[in-house]
Amino acid sequence: MNSDYVRIVEVGPRDGLQNEPGFLDSSIKLELIHRLAQCGFLSVEATSFVSPKWVPQLADAAEVFSAIVKNPKVSYPVLVPNLQGYERAIAAGAREVAVFTAASEAFSLKNTNASVGENLERFVPIFERASEDGVKVRGYVSCVLGCPFQGKVAVQDVALVARLLYTSGCYEVSLGDTIGVGTPTKTRALMQAIASEIPTSAIAGHFHDTYGQAIANIFASLEVGVRVFDSSVAGLGGCPYAKGATGNVASENVIYLLQELGFATGVDIEKLVDVGAWISAALNRRYESGVGRALLAKRGA
Ligand code: HMG
Ligand code: MG
Repeated sequence: MNSDYVRIVEVGPRDGLQNEPGFLDSSIKLELIHRLAQCGFLSVEATSFVSPKWVPQLADAAEVFSAIVKNPKVSYPVLVPNLQGYERAIAAGAREVAVFTAASEAFSLKNTNASVGENLERFVPIFERASEDGVKVRGYVSCVLGCPFQGKVAVQDVALVARLLYTSGCYEVSLGDTIGVGTPTKTRALMQAIASEIPTSAIAGHFHDTYGQAIANIFASLEVGVRVFDSSVAGLGGCPYAKGATGNVASENVIYLLQELGFATGVDIEKLVDVGAWISAALNRRYESGVGRALLAKRGA
């Protein structure tokens, strides 16, 4: 694998915090977003303009987003499920949004109260408005390697949704192993199949680490040529509508792997470990990054 740039989309403030049992103070969310941008991430997914009845943890999306002191080099995408979410996001100043659906009908219904087809219809006015407003749209496909309700998910189902999102106007499609059941062989086959549908440069990998396979799956994706990955500081996260799924792969672990492989990421791993230790303490949880804990121990040694 050659030495080039890998973009990491830091999703901790959104995917990480949407699953916390309690409501985290908006000022801590803001500090998290600011500190992650200072680490060198060029994409920090900041929050979610979904229904606050569905995800009360991010009910302060507008307040948080409008208070971010934006770094002009950094993009701050936000999740939007429908036109109402898009309009709230734009009113708060968003310049990049992310639409989300699934490769599994069962998951789509639980997560959005709508089928995959209904989701795609809801996105049509978002694509229209985003094109008029000059707003970038990213797309997510959940359950690409398995579904908590349906079980197996066919590669063709992922390919169909990924292609529809890309051809509708998503500049990038993030493939989500929502419940972290993927393994490298399956991941490689999936990435190869999607790379024959849309450009490899438009594919992102979004791995949750429930079964500890996320780093291996990232390595398999790198071998196929994927150069964008979503991850979460301190491995925060999970989906409230995917019971038992744990957090995203920890950004610290991903940055360490990429550095060791010779890829550039632009992220300062020592600063990131400070953020990981701080947010874990703020959330009163163990610091869920092996790399983070090892680097902290090394400092103390
Ligand atoms: P619904 O209940 O069917 O929607 O929810 P509705 O259109 O009937 O509206 C119901 C109420 O919600 C109404 O309010 C609407 O105004 C309001 P009421 O009249 O009852 O007072 N509402 C909204 N309020 C604010 N912002 C909005 C909005 N939309 C409606 N945007 C809906 C449908 C899609 C809204 C709901 O199911 C929802 O918000 N779901 C989001 C669930 C979610 O956020 N899941 C986690 C994110 S996805 C994920 O984590 C996976 C990912 O990480 C990748 C991976 O790991 O696979 C991306
Ligand atoms: Mg996720």
